Amino acid sequence: MQKKWWQEEIVYQIYPKSFCDSNGDGIGDINGIISKLDYLKNLGVTMLWICPIFQSPMDDNGYDISNYFALAPEFGSMEELRNLVKLAKEKGIKIILDLVINHTSDEHEWFQEALKDPNSKYHDFYIFKSGTEVPNNWRSMFGGSVWEKVEGRDEFYYHSFGKKQPDLNWENKEVRETLYQMVNQWLDFGIAGFRVDAITFIKKDLTFQSREADGVDGLVKCTKTSRNQPGIETFLRELKEQTFQKHDCVTVAEAPGVQYEELEDFIGEDGYFSMIFDFKHADLDIASGSEWFKRIPWTIKDLRDRLMTSQLAIQKVGWSANFIENHDQPRATSKYLLDQEANLDAVKTLGAMYFFLRGTPFIYQGQELGMRNFTRSGIEEFNDISSIDQYYRSIEEGCTEEEALHYINLRSRDNARTPFPWKNTENAGFSSGKPWLKVTEHYSEINANDQVQNPDSIYHFYRHLIDLRQNSDFKECLIYGDIIPLETQCQDVIAYIRKTEKETIGCYFSFSKEVQKELLPAEVSEIVLSTKTAIYKEKEVSLAPFQTFMAVIK
Ligand code: NOJ
Ligand code: CA
Repeated sequence: MQKKWWQEEIVYQIYPKSFCDSNGDGIGDINGIISKLDYLKNLGVTMLWICPIFQSPMDDNGYDISNYFALAPEFGSMEELRNLVKLAKEKGIKIILDLVINHTSDEHEWFQEALKDPNSKYHDFYIFKSGTEVPNNWRSMFGGSVWEKVEGRDEFYYHSFGKKQPDLNWENKEVRETLYQMVNQWLDFGIAGFRVDAITFIKKDLTFQSREADGVDGLVKCTKTSRNQPGIETFLRELKEQTFQKHDCVTVAEAPGVQYEELEDFIGEDGYFSMIFDFKHADLDIASGSEWFKRIPWTIKDLRDRLMTSQLAIQKVGWSANFIENHDQPRATSKYLLDQEANLDAVKTLGAMYFFLRGTPFIYQGQELGMRNFTRSGIEEFNDISSIDQYYRSIEEGCTEEEALHYINLRSRDNARTPFPWKNTENAGFSSGKPWLKVTEHYSEINANDQVQNPDSIYHFYRHLIDLRQNSDFKECLIYGDIIPLETQCQDVIAYIRKTEKETIGCYFSFSKEVQKELLPAEVSEIVLSTKTAIYKEKEVSLAPFQTFMAVIK
């Protein structure tokens, strides 16, 4: 593929509510981010993705926008955002924002107008159906019907996510044009691009017919009828042509439901987006992203197979967005390493394994400290709307309360949303007030201040990974090299090659508790990274438990 500037970025994702609180109200804010720009710069990141900061009743923590042109006052002012963009730029850090255009908040002026007056043009900005019966049996992503009754009228409105997140009607040209204008206005503001939320939901099956139920509630997942539906290509192409294409920006789409055969359309040379997130490896422990109680047993080999299948499919047409965490996922340490979540060697190897895949690495706040899941003992301790729904749905589907609690503890989005542990002081140094969500019990053991001072910490390991990719002699190969998966003797070792015409780097990541011997495709000529003493001879390497071993081979 032709080189693009965003291939060389290291993206750091910020969940603003939980990153750093500058004024003691318990809520993270823009000035908090500004105060940590040096921390981010020292880590080596080059771009920040900031989750939604727009005006919102915060029913889904900002993914329910009530005004695209105003910021949530708890996060700060437009002036402060401008300042953040400017100060970040001075440090060589770009900013991308979250673009939520499948739905708005029910408190958005457009929706309020639609409710007030069914004859107003805003009524057709959303999806309404009249009648006294629920129009069909589709289940929303956050549980219950996709339809919500309009009070005082025989009418229902459609929501793919929460009931305070009505879907916009993309069939309406004026809706689309209004959104494009807004997108362009933000790009003109000076941001580098967008992470694009839930974009494969914008087209619905317009027959709105019921389908066969897939749960005891008599409903069927709306992903079957409102995700990546035929016809979506027209909207996505238009969105790109009217907005992104006019700017030299980067776009990373949350696009679940896209098949590998369709990747060319999405991220090919002339694709709708720069990159999309592939969730296949992230969902390896559950039947679907909206059914946490349907657990699936998995092995490191399954993780390897999913990642490699994805890498090879994407390599054919474009560029990956590599991640192991985000604000919707549990902590990668707890999820992928299980009883080894606190084993620093294992945490480092997990980090290196995904970091050197072909693509742009995304790091979620706290991942660089090796943060872990936070176990809660009752449903009342959860904030995330999706966790609360999954708890009751599990029980409805026959789980005991203990099982339901166990499943949501494993998967809750709150795991990633706990306040960032800056220091080993009260409230983990996140806020001088009471944090909006309880800090984890681990902050005395896992916090930024201690790790910055400890050269063996996970933080310094991530710093080193970034430095290797961005500044070392191996840069060209580690960024642009092709990826070729390697077969391994041990099923708990993941191995691949990165390769340019000039150089080949063999990369071995052991998730085994035993010493493992692996074959090298050729002899070692130079070590790139080894987390334990490198032991190799001719075409064989001996890997200590949880060791990362990367070397240039002849
Ligand atoms: C995906 C976002 O990542 C998630 O946090 C949000 O709840 C849904 N989209 C709805 O916007
Ligand atoms: Ca604050």
